[in-house]
Amino acid sequence: MRQKILVSGGAGYIGSHTCVELLAAGYDVVVVDNFSNSKPAVLDRVSRIAGRDVTWYEVDLRDKSALARVFAQHTFSGVLHCAGVKAIDEAQRFPLKYYQHNLEASLTLIEAMTQHGLRRLVFSSSATVYGEAARVPYREEAPLAPNTVYGRSKMMVENVLQDLVQADPSWHIAILRYFNPVGAHSSGLIGEDPSGIPGNLMPHICQVAIGKLDELAIFGHDYPTPDGTGVRDYLHVMDLAEGHVKALEYVCRESGLLTLNLGNGRGYSVLEMVRAFEHACSRKINYRYAPRRAGDLASYYADARRANEVLGWRAHRDLSEICTDAWRWQSQNPEGYS
Ligand code: UFG
Repeated sequence: MRQKILVSGGAGYIGSHTCVELLAAGYDVVVVDNFSNSKPAVLDRVSRIAGRDVTWYEVDLRDKSALARVFAQHTFSGVLHCAGVKAIDEAQRFPLKYYQHNLEASLTLIEAMTQHGLRRLVFSSSATVYGEAARVPYREEAPLAPNTVYGRSKMMVENVLQDLVQADPSWHIAILRYFNPVGAHSSGLIGEDPSGIPGNLMPHICQVAIGKLDELAIFGHDYPTPDGTGVRDYLHVMDLAEGHVKALEYVCRESGLLTLNLGNGRGYSVLEMVRAFEHACSRKINYRYAPRRAGDLASYYADARRANEVLGWRAHRDLSEICTDAWRWQSQNPEGYS
């Protein structure tokens, strides 16, 4: 009998790639997603890649009775909680939405797990919980001081999970702090499909390359970084997906709380990303310098040693593979999933 894993937000960018990896590792996958920022078509693609079906339900996690029906129909070995909203600027304008979808939804999910005696959870957090207080490279022990609503909503869930383990050490929980996931599955069948004008760097570059957007605005070129543009820790989304499977294996073995950075451990500037992408797609990426974006930090990247020590995980796909895979996805699916 295969172990069955519930993946919340499994049709999203991270969730879908993680489902592929779970299926490849021999798990059965049940997805709950409200499809607010994704489409069921994603899961057909996941099934095509894996050669196996994915069971899915259109469920908003805050809908307790809908969630209860899913739990009544399946016996899960663990939960990967990837569902959430993640647009930083939108979060500043609509904080309540962010606390509802990120915090309240997590509470409902945890409550349902408790009712079914299920205590194995992997939670999608973000490097944005560190904020300005931490020194680079960010270590997991660094103080948390997120400077956005989005970051605070993630930190609040982390706090809830810590309290949960404190009160009941039989919980098995891994908190994964993602740095900047980019790239796509090497099949070109799944990838990042943002709605509207992409707010993040990589999908914006992709859309300039394909001709949907005229140019990239580089937000700031006067940062104290080697070339003046912002530096981030970009990691391939399939490396991240592998990290989830290893974290799941860990929580199936060990109880308590494990908090891990998932990053590649080095930073790349915006200009380095542009050049690597130009190389991968053999096209010119038009860009112009624009003022800094409010709330952006100059440079940060992970100290990713703990994930390697505890899980034996590290990001091994390089920038060239990231850009090649992102370009394959974009060029084969110029309109995303639609
Ligand atoms: N950038 C541009 N132009 C753009 C978009 C981005 O120059 O059009 C720059 C940014 O200023 C930054 C870098 O590219 O220097 C990366 O920006 P992203 O928006 O791609 O990513 P962020 O580092 O701002 O944030 C991302 C996710 C967050 C997450 C965080 C965790 O968007 O959800 O990583 O590290 F919390």
